[in-house]
Amino acid sequence: MCGIVGYVGQKNATPIVLNGLKRLEYRGYDSAGIAVLNNGAIERRRDVGKLENLERRLADEPISGAIGIGHTRWATHGQPSERNAHPHLSNDGQFVVVHNGIVENYLELRELLRAQGVRFESETDTEVIVHLIAQLVAQGHDLTEATRRACLQLRGAHAIVVMSARYPDRLVAVRIGNAGGVALGIGQGEMYIASDIPAILEYTRQLVFLESRQLATVTANGYSVQTLSGEPVDAAIHQIAWDPVSAARGEYRHFMQKEIFEQGRSLTDTIRGRISFEDGRVTLSDLPLSADEARRLKRIVTVACGTSAYAGLVGKFMLEALARIPVEVDYGSEYRYRDPILDGDCAVLAITQSGETVDTLAAMEEAREKGARLWSIVNVIGSQAMRIADGYITMQAGPEIGVASTKAFTASLVDQYLLALYLGQLRGTLSAEQARQHAQDIARLPDLVGHVLDRAAEVEALAKKLRDYQNFLYLGRGINYPIALEGALKLKEISYIHAEGYPAGEMKHGPIALIDEKMPVLAIAIQDSVYEKMISQIEQAKARRGIVIAVATEGDTFIQSKADHVLYVPKLPPLLSPVVTVIPLQLLAYYVAVERGADVDQPRNLAKSVTVE
Ligand code: F6R
Repeated sequence: MCGIVGYVGQKNATPIVLNGLKRLEYRGYDSAGIAVLNNGAIERRRDVGKLENLERRLADEPISGAIGIGHTRWATHGQPSERNAHPHLSNDGQFVVVHNGIVENYLELRELLRAQGVRFESETDTEVIVHLIAQLVAQGHDLTEATRRACLQLRGAHAIVVMSARYPDRLVAVRIGNAGGVALGIGQGEMYIASDIPAILEYTRQLVFLESRQLATVTANGYSVQTLSGEPVDAAIHQIAWDPVSAARGEYRHFMQKEIFEQGRSLTDTIRGRISFEDGRVTLSDLPLSADEARRLKRIVTVACGTSAYAGLVGKFMLEALARIPVEVDYGSEYRYRDPILDGDCAVLAITQSGETVDTLAAMEEAREKGARLWSIVNVIGSQAMRIADGYITMQAGPEIGVASTKAFTASLVDQYLLALYLGQLRGTLSAEQARQHAQDIARLPDLVGHVLDRAAEVEALAKKLRDYQNFLYLGRGINYPIALEGALKLKEISYIHAEGYPAGEMKHGPIALIDEKMPVLAIAIQDSVYEKMISQIEQAKARRGIVIAVATEGDTFIQSKADHVLYVPKLPPLLSPVVTVIPLQLLAYYVAVERGADVDQPRNLAKSVTVE
């Protein structure tokens, strides 16, 4: 996962920035770099692999200066190499940038800049940012204004820090969407910037958090914040408590809330380095498979429990559509008790964020004994499910502390989408053009997830109205039926309200008897091939005086005449839609639980990793 650290003050920035990067090591990275300003010139050191390599390089070729920025990178565009490591420099060596996120329109910006004579040194998307800023300063804008104008040209979600030899007293930091946070740390005659607060907590506990579409100009003596449209912002200062738990929770009240809001970033990390945005090629280096082996695959059996099993049900749609392989999904806790039929042409895919769920591991053992190929999708690196598999994909969601899984769920959806593309490419079921289109769709996810999160206040207001109901029904169809199951699970496990997920078409076969004015019905009714059918289910629920909350596609005003409340999500191709439809449901469960005073992060009777049968 990428990390950013910045410093401006009186001390030498190099050890402070390096130390900050070390505190982010647990997130994982493949290269790192630092730039400082010394006597009016930018000096930069970068290296691949562990931070020790950069440290050694700095010991051999030291740099020092009272202002500097640093970055740990996980490759998204281009291989991990020194050339692709951040910080990135402008052609005149006067500007330098570090960045988290994906510049969705970088191909077009790069062509435009190339046509104007800009020379590119790396294969990264980030490099367009520094060249745009250099050009805008050359046109007469100051550093802050140039950065603001450059950002208006970027599509996607970003965290960016800029330093310039032309403005040696300041750093400019920007946050757009949820590609990671930007915290400003306030010191005495010095200021810090970090993507993650552990990086700077040993220096200061007074922090300002940038909101989406805000930009800060930071000098040793203070900071000023404005919006990307140029209006000044009076940003609140947060005092972070000393105990490690509060420190890790940062600006959030609960870990679950933090983890829900982290999803733009966690998905960026899930995508990183695995798909080329130029040709759509997917690389899953820990899941080696030849084209021949992929073509011989006859079936995939997904085994998982709870939320991970629902992720598997979504993945079934992705794998069948893109790789044309039949998929069955079973609970880990059921699988081994039915003497399953398996052979070497089957792959068993275990999905488990903890990698230690005993039922899922038992299902994996069963598969191993029967000679199937064994794959896993895990969040915890080094866990058992990762170690015993023939191939694995990590979720890259970062530590998930809230017991109710949120960011690991969306990460496992994206991992399955990548797996489906990977298999589709190996099996020849996807054309090059289709692969490229899928890559572009994936690149939009972090930004679109950010759009849903920006509307969290609407969900919070709705939660206040719904907090006292005792039963909920969640309905969905097709690929969004598992999202109905997941939404119901989230609500029941943290708020202790009874909730059931149902395929919408099944409502008339029984559950409709339950509907009355005491039963809120949550219907996922996005504009896809089953939209009309969902509308008719909504009408049936309304006819029985049910309270209908619809999750609908942005711009669908018609649905307002049918449902009592509408929660909008952005339009995406149907196979990716669950990544955004689940978010309002996570938020609803969270805010209802908070309203009811429940222990959100540690709900009763539940554990983060279920290692007993
Ligand atoms: C619900 C939840 C659980 C887990 C289940 C499997 O929010 O977190 O349902 O999904 O216990 O856990 P893992 O994915 O670790 O195998």
